[in-house]
Amino acid sequence: MRSQGWFGRKGKDGFIYRAWMKKSGIPDFEFDGRPVIGICNTWSEYTPCNSHFRELAEFVKRGVLEAGGFPLEFPVMSLGETLIKPTAMLYRNLASMDVEESIRANPMDGVVLLCGCDKTTPSLVMGACSVDLPSIVVSGGPMLTGRYKGKSISTSDIWRFSEANRSGQMDDHEMRTAEAGMCRSDGHCAVMGTASTMACMVESLGLSLPGNAAIPAPDAARKVLAQQSGKAIVQMVRENRKLSDVLTREAFENAIMVNAAIGGSTNFVIHLLAIAGRIGIDLTIDDFDRFSKGIPLLANLQPSGEYFMEDFYYAGGLPAIMKELLPKLHRTCITVNGSTVEDNVSQAPCYDTTVISGLDEPFNDLAGVMILKGNLSSEGAVIKPSAATKSLLVHTGKAVVFEDIDDYKHRIDDPELDVDENSILVLKNVGPKGYPGMPEVGNMGLPAKLLAKGVKDMVRISDGRMSGTGFGTVVLHVAPESADGGALGIVKDGDEITLDIHQRLLHLHLSDTEIADRLAAKAALPPITDRGYVQLYIKHVQGANLGADLDFLRGGSGSQVTKDSH
Ligand code: FES
Repeated sequence: MRSQGWFGRKGKDGFIYRAWMKKSGIPDFEFDGRPVIGICNTWSEYTPCNSHFRELAEFVKRGVLEAGGFPLEFPVMSLGETLIKPTAMLYRNLASMDVEESIRANPMDGVVLLCGCDKTTPSLVMGACSVDLPSIVVSGGPMLTGRYKGKSISTSDIWRFSEANRSGQMDDHEMRTAEAGMCRSDGHCAVMGTASTMACMVESLGLSLPGNAAIPAPDAARKVLAQQSGKAIVQMVRENRKLSDVLTREAFENAIMVNAAIGGSTNFVIHLLAIAGRIGIDLTIDDFDRFSKGIPLLANLQPSGEYFMEDFYYAGGLPAIMKELLPKLHRTCITVNGSTVEDNVSQAPCYDTTVISGLDEPFNDLAGVMILKGNLSSEGAVIKPSAATKSLLVHTGKAVVFEDIDDYKHRIDDPELDVDENSILVLKNVGPKGYPGMPEVGNMGLPAKLLAKGVKDMVRISDGRMSGTGFGTVVLHVAPESADGGALGIVKDGDEITLDIHQRLLHLHLSDTEIADRLAAKAALPPITDRGYVQLYIKHVQGANLGADLDFLRGGSGSQVTKDSH
């Protein structure tokens, strides 16, 4: 066992390694070479979605102890989506560094990753991949469905409430009442937003036990899953099944197919690319289009459909979706429990076909993410057609340009703004470097005067991201970004743009010469004035088409500690 490099030593070093651990009441025999399991915990009161993780960790420990392991819990940076400014995405890579170094630097043979709120999953998986020990993810689970005025609500309704509030159909008091009914229990957002998408991602990659994604946080089954994961990680260590044994190219392809069928978040693209970069799989942005093709939408969940994660669980959860997709999936991929994908899901029941449909009668033929290229996005842009308005998926319109998010906030509700429902809203400087941190502002709210006319959707284009709970005809992750030489940076009011999902096209109707001239005339980027981590981030962050990881974090350093001061 790797941990015996600490706890199995004789003399002064072994004395020091064990003596301080014994202050917690750990008896001597626990240092006998049994698997030491780290429990990487993102509990924080600043991350409400993960507020139940101290209790969940106790169930993981129970499983580890039952299987003859030695559990040790440790904290890492926790990224709560709702409170962190300027955006949690700015810190995903920083948190992944914390995770990587914490795992490598400490005596552990395997690790359980406790993930919940959006960024906590990719940051933990990315960090763990760069060490490549046996690892299992336990997700925190979604909240119970919210309730307001007798109706089911969840995070996707925030966008509807906010538009209703701006157009005067919902007053501030009603907003506060809705707020109180939104989050009724422990857990993360209760729709197929980014957190649920991430939980499905780890399950479809084979990084969690089957069923992990959908069990609601307060359900006793979530505790059982945590305990079973504790047992499974000990076995995984004994069988020396590392992350790289599970995360094959085929596993990534499975995850893309599953993401299409569930209507997963567009953030899936950026996080999966970053994870692939850490484990050394050559995944490209075009793979998302390629492997999504031909996969229809099977999960009728908000924001692409009607229902909530709680309903998804009662209907059979992700195993029911994966069973339906088995003819298309790589069935022989090994998962963390040592069984194949096929072994895990082939008997999975579906209890409600209004929530999980069959391949023969899908909810929507348009699913997955599409990758758009053209002179406006030579390295790719992302759209989620299942969350868009069908009639806008082929559209040409005149650009209404906002130079940055402040410009947008300042002018969007200006009655003088020259905009109609056929216009295309363009938002610049919200990419990885430009903001910095690539915030979720891509599904920018519509102009108040159009909302008042009853307009519900417009084509919107930016180099930013969109909340996984958001919806609309929204083109995101435009690369190269406007602040880094991208053509998005030179679009002016009145320029014509064409979006055509059938041709996977995002085209700016300007000649190559005009584009080159405008790019040449564009002022150089101002020098970086930020200090500390933000300076490091701006200097090293890669484009969205590569996963927006820091260039020097791609790949891994393994689990070996090469220098030892004791
Ligand atoms: Fe944490 Fe939505 S805010 S998952």
